[in-house]
Amino acid sequence: MVLDPAFTIPALAVAAYDWFQSSWTITRNYPVAGRLRWLALSLRPFIRAYAVEDDTHGTPYSYAARQLIKTRSHGLADTIPFGTELDVYEDPHHWISHSMAPEREPDLSPRITVGNEQSSKPYSASILNISAMSFGALSANAVKAMNIGARDGGFYQDTGEGGLSRHHLENGGDLVWEIGSGYFGARDKDGKFDPEKFRDKAANEAVKMTEIKISQGAKPGHGGMLLGSKVTPEIAEVRGVPVYENCLSPRGHSAFSTPAQMLEFAASMRELSGGKPVGIKFCVGQPHEPFALVKAMLTTGIYPDFIVIDGAEGGTGAAPLSLPIGLVCRFGTGWC
Ligand SMILES: Cc1cc2nc3c(=O)[nH]c(=O)nc-3n(C[C@H](O)[C@H](O)[C@H](O)COP(=O)(O)O)c2cc1C
Repeated sequence: MVLDPAFTIPALAVAAYDWFQSSWTITRNYPVAGRLRWLALSLRPFIRAYAVEDDTHGTPYSYAARQLIKTRSHGLADTIPFGTELDVYEDPHHWISHSMAPEREPDLSPRITVGNEQSSKPYSASILNISAMSFGALSANAVKAMNIGARDGGFYQDTGEGGLSRHHLENGGDLVWEIGSGYFGARDKDGKFDPEKFRDKAANEAVKMTEIKISQGAKPGHGGMLLGSKVTPEIAEVRGVPVYENCLSPRGHSAFSTPAQMLEFAASMRELSGGKPVGIKFCVGQPHEPFALVKAMLTTGIYPDFIVIDGAEGGTGAAPLSLPIGLVCRFGTGWC
């Protein structure tokens, strides 16, 4: 057998490198062949998606659910003959309950009015909307696509804490402007809440409500950080932060430190936005905290117009890798 030098010389060079390097044990023990592991790892998502994944068992959306969304987005017929592939004896199993007297004329676009008597501009919200995802965590195209969806579907898009950008405003979908601990888009040079900047942007017709983000299910105890490499000039301008520097959302807010102060802050946001409803988003970590919040509502007489409760199953644009792989839940820092 004659070996082709065009193949053997590079292979020997790689083998020599693998043999003498001391960073990777596998390639040191198995020069060249050990590299197949990286190839296999890079193919892993594809093999799982195309060959291994069960139609009904993907998380958070199964292959079957993703196909249904795709079918609908293409405007194709989604009415089919079927026998269920779901295991209806599985625990838990979720289903729509049957009735011998179903609604004769069901409301196909149910909405709910958000805004208590303290708000002068109540908003009629869809009961399904797009949860907060920041520009920065999402690309401009993703923000725009979701906004078009919100406009066409009659629901709202939550901006997330990364500020209100022109991409949110281009297509006319309803918006909830979220303010996190970084006060992006409404902050002064020291990172503190700037009421004037908030007032100017909240006045935009597309902004129907505003929201204070306290905590997020995906990252207990963490604010969040957008890596400097992602902080392009445009994202920096929208957020009001330096270009290409790590952009930090602190763990907690600087504008308040007690439940009563938080409610006063919410009331000031409602006033600054011209009476638009204001909400609070958090993940329940300690059961006494919502109690304290409700008690503060009673003592101050200030009520948020809506409350968003996040679950621990939620996603995030940026969090330490140890959180999504479940170390926290398994070893326990509380529940949420
Ligand atoms: C890419 C991405 C970015 C997110 N950014 C924010 C954010 O800026 N503010 C926030 O409150 N939640 C943010 N979240 C969390 C979501 O709003 C939501 O609470 C979470 O994903 C749970 O909802 P789900 O179970 O429908 O995914 C983000 C989630 C993702 C996946």
